[in-house]
Amino acid sequence: MAEIGKDIDFAKSLLNAGEIVGLPTETVYGLAGNALDEEAILKIYSAKNRPKFDPLIAHTDSIEKVETLVCEFPEKARQLALAFWPGPLTLLLSKSDKIPDLLTSGLSRVAIRIPDHPMTLELLSKLDFPLAAPSANPFGFVSPTKASHVQDQLGEKISYILNGGKCRVGLESTIVGFEDDEVVIHRLGGLGIEEIERVVGKVKMKLNKSSNPDAPGMLKSHYSPGVPLIIGNIREELRNVGSKKIGVISFGEVFHDAHVMEVLSPTRDIQQAAKNLFGALRVMKDENVDIILTEKFPEEGIGRAINDRLERAAAR
Ligand code: TXA
Ligand code: MG
Repeated sequence: MAEIGKDIDFAKSLLNAGEIVGLPTETVYGLAGNALDEEAILKIYSAKNRPKFDPLIAHTDSIEKVETLVCEFPEKARQLALAFWPGPLTLLLSKSDKIPDLLTSGLSRVAIRIPDHPMTLELLSKLDFPLAAPSANPFGFVSPTKASHVQDQLGEKISYILNGGKCRVGLESTIVGFEDDEVVIHRLGGLGIEEIERVVGKVKMKLNKSSNPDAPGMLKSHYSPGVPLIIGNIREELRNVGSKKIGVISFGEVFHDAHVMEVLSPTRDIQQAAKNLFGALRVMKDENVDIILTEKFPEEGIGRAINDRLERAAAR
């Protein structure tokens, strides 16, 4: 089992020694290692059971440091970085030679972001390298939003998890690339499209739902809760599913016929719903329900990212 604690200097010493650690960000917990060290990167791929065609995000704590890792910083990328970093935004920028090909799976662009969590920002400020950090879950599973989630799934494979409490956003970062003068969204996430468009104008969507060469990790069947999941009218579905052990994940309403009930936000606050989504999917799995019923969330802001994750969880 991994040790769980708040010792930033201990995490730093492990990372300096080429080890990997679990750490908090505002979106989800990451499994971090030195992004410039191929050995450390290999440890991450191996602990996650992640195929090497699925590249990792580099994390750092200042735009000045980002500039040393990329060879171009388009104007619109800079505007977004200034507006939303630290925050749930990942930029795809053409990589400098410092970045190992293993980190980007041989792609010419590196995914990079400044996360918004005080402990991880302090840790990054004390390191002289960026951290590679995919979500700290085995490949294909739901991302962790608490230190105990990391412990449950990867505790045997790492020695330390930095405990930063429950993640504030609860969904992964929004991934944005730049083609000619266009801003392209590759993954919906914690930062809403509307907010991005307020800064750079209309964006283009490139959210391939099957296998996406631009963001290879966004396979349709990602985020598996390991249980069949139906998105629809919960009340009607409850009548249809028969005598199974039924789990319901709703936005705000309580359904008394459910055997396991998770209300994401009693006040129907979409940010709160996002924050609670992955935890609720884990509860359903832990409670061994036969089926999960859920509903479509409002298709705006972070609601789009919630719907995206639910659709992927439903595809098996
Ligand atoms: O919020 C987040 O982004 C979290 C926290 C820990 O920062 N990280 C995260 O990492 O979600 P991960 O590895 O679970 O998802 C990263 C996604 C994958 O779909 C991957 O394919 C894509 O980013 N990606 C990484 N590098 C890329 C690149 N160079 N070009 C295109 N897509 C890339
Ligand atoms: Mg992930």
